[in-house]
Amino acid sequence: MSLKTPEQSRTIMTDLVLPSETNPINNLFGGELLARMDRAASIAARRHSRRIVVTASVNHVAFNRAIPLGSVVTVEAKVSRAFKSSMEIYIDVWIEDRESGEKTKANEAIYTFVAVDETGRPVRIEEIQPVTELEKERYKGALRRKQLSLVLAGKMKADDATELKALFN
Ligand SMILES: CC(C)(COP(=O)(O)OP(=O)(O)OC[C@H]1O[C@@H](n2cnc3c(N)ncnc32)[C@H](O)[C@@H]1OP(=O)(O)O)[C@@H](O)C(=O)NCCC(=O)NCCS
Repeated sequence: MSLKTPEQSRTIMTDLVLPSETNPINNLFGGELLARMDRAASIAARRHSRRIVVTASVNHVAFNRAIPLGSVVTVEAKVSRAFKSSMEIYIDVWIEDRESGEKTKANEAIYTFVAVDETGRPVRIEEIQPVTELEKERYKGALRRKQLSLVLAGKMKADDATELKALFN
C-alpha cells in the first residue's frame, strides 16, 4: 500500500478579519491568528492520522506582516512529516488584495500535534511520503526542528540531538 502524501492532509481555511479580532492599531490580534492556525493544523493532523489529535508544541511563528482589519485571510496547513505518534504541521498564511485578488504571503508557523487514544495516550500513526520539492525540503528539516523543540522543552538532551547538532558543524 502506498504511503499518504502531505497533499492528502492539506487544509485551507479562509475568513475575514472582523473588528473584534483586531489590536488597537486595527491589525489582526496575534492570538486570533494563532487560534486560526491551530484549528487548520489540527484538521490537517487529523486528516493524516485519522485519530484524535492534540497540540503538543508551537515550534515557530513568524508574524512577518500585519494583517489589516477587513482582510481576507487564508490559512493553509499540511503535515510536513509524521514520526511515531507526532506530526509536524507547516502553516502558510496569505492575504488577498481586494481589487486584484492577488495573494501575498503574510505569515508562517510550525506546530507539532500528537495523535492520542480516548485516554490521551499517544498512538502510532502512518508515515508520510513528500512529493514536491518544497514538501521534501520541509520533511528533511522536520527532524531537526523536532529535536530542537524537545531540547527546549527539556525532553531531550542536547547531546542526543544528532541531526540538530550537525547543522552547526
Ligand atoms: C502532547 C502529549 C500527548 C505528549 O505526551 P508525552 O507523555 O510527552 O508523550 P511522549 O513523550 O510519548 O511523546 C509523544 C510524542 O510527542 C512528541 N513530543 C512531546 N512533546 C513535544 C514537544 N514539546 N515538541 C515536539 N514533540 C513533542 C514526542 O517526541 C513523541 O513523538 P513521537 O512519538 O512521534 O516520537 C501530552 O504532553 C499532552 O497531552 N499534552 C497536552 C496537549 C493539549 O492539551 N494541548 C492543547 C493545549 S491547551
